[in-house]
Order: sequence, then C-alpha cells, then structure tokens
Amino acid sequence: MCGIFAYLGDKKTAGKLVVEGLKKLEYRGYDSFGIAEKLPNKFQIIKKVGKISDFDPNKAKLASTNLAIGHTRWATHGGVTKLNAHPHLSSNGKIAVVHNGIVENHDALRKALQKKGVKFISQTDTEVIPNLIAAELEKNDFPTAVRKAAKKIKGRYSFVALKHDEETLVAARNGSPLIVGVEKFYPKNDGERHGKADGSAFFIASDVPAFLAYTSDVSYLDDEQMVVITRSPLGDHFHGRFFNLNTGEAVPKRIVSIELAAGKAEKGSFEHFMLKEIFEQKETIAKALNQDEKQLKLVAQMIKKAYGSFFIGCGTAGKVCAAAEYLFASIAKKHINVIFGSEFDTQEAFLTPKTLLVAVSQSGETADVLEAYKIAKKKKVKTVGVVNVAGSSIARSSDVILPVNAGVEKAVASTKATTAQLAILTLLAYTVAGKLEEGKRVLAEAASQINDFLNPRYSAHLKTIAEKIKNVESMYVIGKGADFPMALEAAIKLQEVSYIHAEGFAAGELKHGPLALIEKNTPLIAFVPAERFRHDVLSNVAEVKARGGMIIGVSPKNDALFDEWIRVPNVDTAQPIVNIIPIQLLAYHLAVLRKNNPDLPRNLAKSVTVK
Ligand code: F6R
Repeated sequence: MCGIFAYLGDKKTAGKLVVEGLKKLEYRGYDSFGIAEKLPNKFQIIKKVGKISDFDPNKAKLASTNLAIGHTRWATHGGVTKLNAHPHLSSNGKIAVVHNGIVENHDALRKALQKKGVKFISQTDTEVIPNLIAAELEKNDFPTAVRKAAKKIKGRYSFVALKHDEETLVAARNGSPLIVGVEKFYPKNDGERHGKADGSAFFIASDVPAFLAYTSDVSYLDDEQMVVITRSPLGDHFHGRFFNLNTGEAVPKRIVSIELAAGKAEKGSFEHFMLKEIFEQKETIAKALNQDEKQLKLVAQMIKKAYGSFFIGCGTAGKVCAAAEYLFASIAKKHINVIFGSEFDTQEAFLTPKTLLVAVSQSGETADVLEAYKIAKKKKVKTVGVVNVAGSSIARSSDVILPVNAGVEKAVASTKATTAQLAILTLLAYTVAGKLEEGKRVLAEAASQINDFLNPRYSAHLKTIAEKIKNVESMYVIGKGADFPMALEAAIKLQEVSYIHAEGFAAGELKHGPLALIEKNTPLIAFVPAERFRHDVLSNVAEVKARGGMIIGVSPKNDALFDEWIRVPNVDTAQPIVNIIPIQLLAYHLAVLRKNNPDLPRNLAKSVTVK
C-alpha cells in the first residue's frame, strides 16, 4: 500500500516521469498524491487530494529537473488531506521524504523532535522521518544521516529521501518493497561491481511495472538495506551503491533482467482491468498448471513429511487456503492447518523445524504474511511460497516457490490470481495423493470448460441478474465443503467492489442464526453441487425460499427453487474454481451499475504492506 516512485538520471523531465510512474502504482493507494522536484537549493512540491490518474502533468507547471520523488497514498495516520499527502518536508525545508509503511514509534519521536523546536504541520507518522534526517545532518553527511534516522524508526517501512542542495537520491527499506531500476546499465564494470551499479538513470519504485517502460534491469533492495544514487565523478552517468542499514557496510548486489512485458499490464479493449482479468481466466488456469513437476513433487514430499503444515494467506488468498483444507481432505486424505497470515503468530507454540509453512499470496508483499515468515525463520520452519509476483519479498524469502503464473493483476479485487492459486493447490493435493496425472486431467478439463463458458453472452446474463439486485441492502452466499470458503470469497468480492453488504456462510449454518436476516427478496447465492451434497444444500436453499428469499443458484443443474440459475460446468474437484468466476462477473457488473470504479474500490489497496 502506498506507491513510491523516484527518478535520478539524464532526463530533465523527472517530474513527468514520476507522475507517469505513480499512475502505474495507483492500485497501491489512491486517496491523494504528491511529488517533490529538486530545484537548485529548494524543492517544488505539488500535492493533491484524489487520484493521480486524474492529474494531467502537461497542465501542471512542472520544473526542468533530473531529480524527483513522488507518492500515491493509502492513508494510515491522518485523514485524506492535502497536508497529509506526501512528500513531507523537514521543518527547515531541507529534506523531502516519501514513505510507505508505519512508523510505530512516531509519537515518541515526534515529542522528542518537538522538544528540539521542530514544528509539525501534518497528522502523519511520516513527518518525523524528514525531521529525524534533518537532525542527523548536523553531524553527518546525507546518506549517513538517513541511515542513522532509519535506525531510530520502529515498524515496517520503506522511504526515499532528497536533500535540497544535493543531486542524491537515498532510499531505505525495512519491510515494505522497493525496487531499483537501472537504465542503460553498464555491465562492463561487472568486476568492480561489489555494492555498486552504473547507469544513465535510476528509478526507485514500490513495484517493477512502474518503470518497466524504461528498463527491465533491476536490483531488489532487501530489508535493512539502503541505496544511495549519485552522479559519477566523470559526470556522464550515475552510480547506485547499496549498504547495510545497520552497519553502513557496502553490500554486494546483483542486477537482474526481468521478463515482464510492460504491455501486458494494459487494459486493451476492456473497460476495466477487473473485467479484463476475469476474462483472462480463459488462459490462466492452464498457465497455472504449467508447474515444474519436480518442484511440485518436492513440495508434496515436504507436506507428507512435515509434522504439521500451515497454509496461510490473507483476504482472498486466505479463502483459497481454506478451500485447500477441504481439497486436501477429499483428494489426499490429508489434514492441513489453515490460518490467516495475521493470526499465524498465535500458533508459535506449535512450530518446530519439522513444521511446514505454505504461503499463498498474489503480490508476494503482504505484511501479515511476511511477519509470519519472520516467525517461521526464527523457528527454522521451512517455507513454500505460492506467489504470483516473481522477485517479490515472499518469493525471495521462500525455500521453494510454486509460481502462480497469472501475469500482472492490476485490479484491486483479485480474480485470475485467485483461480490460478486454487488450481495449483488442487494440483498439489493430487500430487500428495500420488495422482498427479489425474489432477492434471481434471484441471485441464476445467480450464477448457472455462474457455468455453466465459464469453460476452455469459457476462451479459450476469449483468441482467445484477440489474435485478443492484439496489438491495444485503445479500448472502452459501456453500458446503470447498464451496463454503468460496462463499466467503464471493462475499468479499461483492463487498469490495459493489459496496453492498454481503456475507458468506456454510450452507448448513444458516438455520443456526443468520436465517433471521432473510426478508422478502433478500438475495441468496447458493453454490449447489451437481451430485454429492446437492440434496443438503437444496434443503438449506428451501429454508430461505420459504421465508421469501430470492434464490440465485450457481450449479451445473437447474432446480425449481432457483429464481435465477447461473449455469457452471460440472468439473469434479475443480468446482470451486468455476463457481467463483460468475460471482466475480456479478460483482463487477454490480460495481459498474452502482457507478463504483471496480478497479480502485474505496478504502482499499492492492498490496497490503502494513500490518
Ligand atoms: C481481495 C483481495 C485481497 C487480497 C489480500 C492478500 O480481492 O485481493 O483480499 O487477497 O490482500 O493479498 P496477496 O494475495 O497479495 O497476499
């Protein structure tokens, strides 16, 4: 959450480059934005409340400068106001900072700085950072001042700092992602490149796609590291040097060329990324199945040998793990423990070097999961990452990776990554059962059925249903077995983009309380299986129908109880994958009909890098 972008290089349009980069990071936070352009001995600051995508840099009076930083915000401390937007300046105006994360001890730091006469103008935790750096500058050079300031900060963070009178960019990371892009990287200097890189320009961003149009040569800043970018003594290019944030020692860094195609992250002919990504599921399931079988079998062995496996994820990824619990039980007759990333720390007592942690994450940057990794490492627990973003923090910290292969997912609401994760965990369950080939067959059949049914006519049918329910106050979703976590996932999808109150339940649980919420025409979405458990779920549906509920049946077979039938193919253990797709479409259409932006839902952000 929060997007950071910075540029130092040979172009004099740094401000415009930063705005363009921030637009690609908008999914990380979109309540306000700002940039700082470095002018001789001062900064030009532009801040605005609202979305960076609505900002036209050609209409703003951007400066001619080769050094600028910017930020698109997802508010944590302090309301959504221009004053609270980043960049933040030190009270003496010498330091500008953009920051992602939380300064947990900001209160104590703020009070200490106030005693020294520092005046604060915002309500943010961030404002202490430029002031800490400014205080350290009294005795240190700029990079050392940043390092010493960073050591005083408690919490997960990344930030980039500028000084009013230096052509230097300094960035520090401890928890939240920062990636350094090097344009026209000079590999000739390879031999002497310990802790050093040379390029015609440097980018620093929270995520790679932000600068992919300019370079695919990147270096990942790791936790407790900083990078200092300056002009080379010859003056014709720039140096990037990497240091340990604690000791100040230079650290060796590799520059890697990554393969993401910049164009893939564009909307194409679709009105929204969410719709495009839903339709991409025609291909992404098949891509997810394209796993290195050796790795798959290795993970299956790890699960079999482990004295307890914990599958963790947050939000949608957590629901995928919960579905996996049922899939492992039915396919592999194996129990796995499932817990949300934010709850994993409660399980510390059960962790031994024989425990296995399997983390599912689209972004690979979710703070709650990274915190779980910290505990796992401490307890010598082996880790497996089921991750979509290659090179992300979780991918780099995992002992083994099963790549999700869904491609860039831009819409905040996860769709194609969800079903790809489900496909991988289903395949893994089959591998644990020693039935990999059968698993591949079942899932390949599901992939081909999805390719078939996911078409504009199907989407139009979901839109018709959305028209009928677009003004309801609440709706409910039920399912049994692996469809129960899918009911929870369906509810998340409906909540986050339509803003309609939606809740998921295990089908049999309704009568134990939630049935009291059903009124005339309250929509109930029911995942009704074709065979096993069909009768049980239909009984629960009948109980709602008898109380006036409007029944939307998601099922391979129609039933007289359904007011609306959403047909899905009958695909055995891949049923949760095909069941969730129409609800993604329903949520999308509800959002559009209710005039919400489905790509950027209010209050949310794509990559949740705070605890
Ligand atoms: C909901 C959604 C979120 C994420 C959650 C975890 O549509 O996208 O609930 O699933 O924030 O994110 P990742 O998968 O990046 O760890």
